Parts: sequence; C-alpha cells; structure tokens
Amino acid sequence: MCGIVAYLGRRHAYPILMNGLYRLEYRGYDSAGLALLNDDLQVYKTKGKVSDLEAFVSGKNISGSVGIAHTRWATHGEPNNINAHPHVSPSGNMALIHNGIIENYVYLKEELIRRGYKFRSSTDTEVIIHLIEDFMVNVEVPLEEAVRMAMDMVIGAYAIVVISKHDPHKLIAARKASPLVVGIGDGEFFVASDPTPIVEYTKNVVYLDDEEIAILELDQELKIRTIRNQEKVPYVEKLEMNLSQLEKGGFPHFMLKEIFEQPRSIRDSLRGRLNAAQGVVYLGGIRDFEQKLVNAERIIIVACGTSWHAGLVGEYLLEDIARVNVEVEYASEFRYRNPIICEKDIVIAISQSGETADTLAAIELAKQKGATILGICNVVGSSIARATHAGSYTHAGPEIGVASTKAFTAQVTILTMMALMIADKKGTIRRSRFHQLLNELEKIPSKVEKALLLNDKIREMAEIFKSASNFLYLGRGYSFPVAMEGALKLKEISYIHAEGYPAAEMKHGPIALIDEEMPVVVVATNKELYDKVLSNIQEVKARKGIIIALVKEGDTSVANLADYVIELPDTEESLMPLVATVPLQLLSYHIAVMRGCNIDQPRNLAKSVTVE
Ligand code: M6R
Repeated sequence: MCGIVAYLGRRHAYPILMNGLYRLEYRGYDSAGLALLNDDLQVYKTKGKVSDLEAFVSGKNISGSVGIAHTRWATHGEPNNINAHPHVSPSGNMALIHNGIIENYVYLKEELIRRGYKFRSSTDTEVIIHLIEDFMVNVEVPLEEAVRMAMDMVIGAYAIVVISKHDPHKLIAARKASPLVVGIGDGEFFVASDPTPIVEYTKNVVYLDDEEIAILELDQELKIRTIRNQEKVPYVEKLEMNLSQLEKGGFPHFMLKEIFEQPRSIRDSLRGRLNAAQGVVYLGGIRDFEQKLVNAERIIIVACGTSWHAGLVGEYLLEDIARVNVEVEYASEFRYRNPIICEKDIVIAISQSGETADTLAAIELAKQKGATILGICNVVGSSIARATHAGSYTHAGPEIGVASTKAFTAQVTILTMMALMIADKKGTIRRSRFHQLLNELEKIPSKVEKALLLNDKIREMAEIFKSASNFLYLGRGYSFPVAMEGALKLKEISYIHAEGYPAAEMKHGPIALIDEEMPVVVVATNKELYDKVLSNIQEVKARKGIIIALVKEGDTSVANLADYVIELPDTEESLMPLVATVPLQLLSYHIAVMRGCNIDQPRNLAKSVTVE
C-alpha cells in the first residue's frame, strides 16, 4: 500500500504534492518520488522518507503546474531508488504512480520483454506504463484510451495516475480495489489516495469507483469513463473534514494526540445515536437492516488487527447482552477456509481505514453467499464502506498514527450501541438494565478523560520497563480483548515482544516464560471473575513475575499483590474495555518514545493494508 497524490491546474504543483506526500506518509514510507511537467518531464525519486525526497530535490528544477507524487510501502521489489515511483515509459515521455498490486505482471512483463521492451525496476508497476505507451505508439490512441486498454489487461488492484509530455494539460487516473479520490477546485484538479492532501484546497470531491477512469483536463469538466468504455456522471460529495484534524495540535506525535482525543471521538460516535434520558439508541446508517439484525441467529464479525480486537469485544457484548450467536473471524483466514455462510447471517465488517484488502475480500465472499453485510468504518466513502449493504461510521476523525487508538474505542462504542439496540428490541435485557447501561455509556467519555489523567504515572512506569525484552498481557472475559490490544500496541510501536493471553490459559504454556525479568500486565477489572484473576496473579508472583495490574478504583486485594497498580475509574464490566484500553495505549506510547522508536510510522507497518 502506498500513497499517491497528483495536481493539475495553474498553481505551483510542487508544494501541493510535497504537502500531500507528508499527509499520506502514514500509508508507506520506504521510498518516495515525484514527477513534474514543465519544459520537460522531471522525475525525482529516492529511497527513504518524504523528507529524504525533499532534501534530494533541493536545488533542482521543481517548476510546473502539473505533477504526480508517491510514497511507497514496498511489495514487489526492495525499497530503493529504482523501484521507487513514479515509473517512466520507455521513451521517457510519460510517468505513472501506482498503489496496489498487479497480479499478472509476470506474464505481462514476459510478453513485453519478448517484444523488445526493457525494464529498469523489479516492480509490478512498471508493466503498466510500458503497456500504456505500447498502446499509444502501436494502436495510436489518445492517452485516456491507452490507459483504458492497459488497465483492461491487468489483473489485480490499482489506483494509478499518469502524465505525459505530449499532453501537458491532462491527468489520467484510474482505480480498482485501491482508493482514489478526485478533488475539484476552481479550474484545478487534485487526485489522492484519501482526501487529506485535498481538503485545504477544495471540499468538492468525487470518489472513483472500481474500474473507473477519470480524465482531468485544464479548463474542462471532470469526465469519468469505465474500463468497459461507458460514460459515468461524476457524483460530487462534500468533504466533512477540516485541516486541524490533520495536524498534531501541539502534541509531539499523532498517536498521543489521538489517544487524548478519545473523550471527544467517543462522544462523536455516540452523538445523535444515544439519548440516555429518553432511553433511545438509534443507528441511522443501519435502520433498513435493523429488523434483520434483531432477528439474526448468527452474526459473523470479520476484521484484522486492532479492528479484530474490537470485534472480540463486540462478540462478548452481543452474546452477553443481546444473546445472539457471534463468531469473530480474522478476515484473512475466513476468506480462504471455505466458511459456512447462510443468507440469514449478518456479517459485520470492522475497519478503520475501510481499505483493508483481506476484510474487503471477506465481504465479497460473504456477499456472494447472500449474507447481509454491515460495516463499521471510520473513513467515509472508503471501499469497505461502499462494499457493505449499510453501516455505521465511527466518526472518530482521521486517524493518522499507524497504531490504531481512537478508532478502536470508537468501534467498540458502535458495537456497544448495536448490542444494546438488539437487546432492547429482542427483550434480552430488562428495560431498567437497558437504561442503566445507556446512562453509563453516556458517561464513558468523562471516564476516559479521567483515565487520561494517569498519563504522568504511566510515563514513570514506562521508565521502569522501557528495557524489557518481553511482556505478557493477561485478561479474562471482557478484559481479554483489552489484553490482546495492549500487547499489539506495545509490539507494533516499541518492537518489544508482547503476547496477549486469556489469564487462565497462561498455565497451559506461557507460564513457562515467567521469571523475574518478565513484566506481566494483568487487566484485573472484572467483578465476576475477580477471584480467578487473583489466583492467576498469585501464579505469576510465585514464579517471580512482575505484576502491573489495572484495577478499579478502590480495589485493595489485587493492589496489595501487584508490584505496580493503575487505578481506573469504575464502570460497568461490559463498558470497561473502553476505559481500560487507554492506559495500555499510553504505556506503549511512552515506552516506545523512551526507546527512540518512530511512533507514528513504526518500521515495516503501514496504516492501511491494501495487500493480501
Ligand atoms: O484499517 P483497518 O482497521 O482495517 O486495519 C486493520 C489493521 O491493519 C490495523 O488495525 C492494524 O493492526 C493497526 N496497525 C493496529 O494498530
């Protein structure tokens, strides 16, 4: 997965492209490049981050009001200067940027080589620009038609933008299974992988659909054609995003800003959907499927990574409160294991980015089998949001740090409302209990505010544990997914090995790892399983493990046993994941900062995983 941005208009393209690359860098950051059309086609690319590209082009010719730029997360071909995008056609007249994977590139490359073409890179992308030029030269068609013919030959996922020296006032963009949005300004166009590079210039955008080609020409209206050569009327949408959401707002990292945004983002997820005083929970986005959801005999949740952890909390909530049978699936496993899916099933796809390839593929599979697919996405207009039958946006606002934080709590908030809505309609909980839970859910943002006050204390704890090589996270019941999420956060940004385990499972294996070097984070907030968790803590202590316990305010039993204690504001057990996750996010953050890690762009990761 990569980030792409392009500009066509009368302004100086370079700062727009560079700014756009910085905004998209969360998508990939192993190499970057850009191409500008001025008297000639200028192409600059280099291994490294966007800042390396900026340094590399310093002093070079960066004039021009048409250009394309790319930040890469390598799939085919190692990250180096040659494999960086843009890729240039054999004649040197055209340049192309690409996000996605061309699955049949080996076949296409061999064909082109047989016909005398030479390749410079080891990427899958280069075949596309060779094909386009081949059609232009040998079939003598205009650029947009050559793009159409080329994209008709490729199998796989793509979002591309092409420029040509011979058409200096034109940009051609196309997409299939990789996101692409066109911004329409006053006599200018912007193209990007997401709207963040566009929002400061225009709020009018068109999200391209699969197999659509956008033809952008100076002083012309936007034209869209499909790969089958049908004309489409562009559907212009208004962006609901502002610039301050894309800036750090005084925080040193996006991740910390996003952790601290959670009281606000949870409130935004609840807004207009929960009215505790009137005893109402209403998810407008899924209203047409409400009855189907209430009647469902089985719900299958598909997701990856942190979203999968949110799904696990969802399973506990839906089974516990709404008494419906739930299965939570890793999208990547689900799609390949011939799962049993019936028409009566409801599949809930959870994704922050709405672009995760495995989740998208799982949706397609479930759709083919006739299931109803509901989405819980953060990014408006994303591929998953559009592929589902209906859904609820999380409204967490742009999440830029690669480690997901506010998206998780927003996803859990939506799942909680879903469970409550079903429970109320089905009558699986008493009305008084329903009201109690609604009231408590409404208070969660202020409880998260309180949990954030632990920041200084957690920073001190991080100082103690920053050099650990391993961590174990334990939890039971609702605390188990929290433990898993805590471990994932730690490993992805601090590179410390961490495992999240159901506390009782520890004795079936991980207990062998425990010694005086092993910090064990125990999420001990459960009321029902309290004694059992106490026993698990004893088991760790007996082997000299170091206990960091998350407990409810006023807890003394666990606190007396633990080496370090984090006291959380009390809430309903089923809502505790929304509060308990926050200190674990902070712990990972501070440890990673102290280890000198790149917080917002951890190594080898990217924000949206659009490859299988
Ligand atoms: O955009 P999605 O929610 O579909 O992404 C799923 C995972 O790739 C994502 O949650 C990943 O695990 C994060 N880096 C976790 O912080």
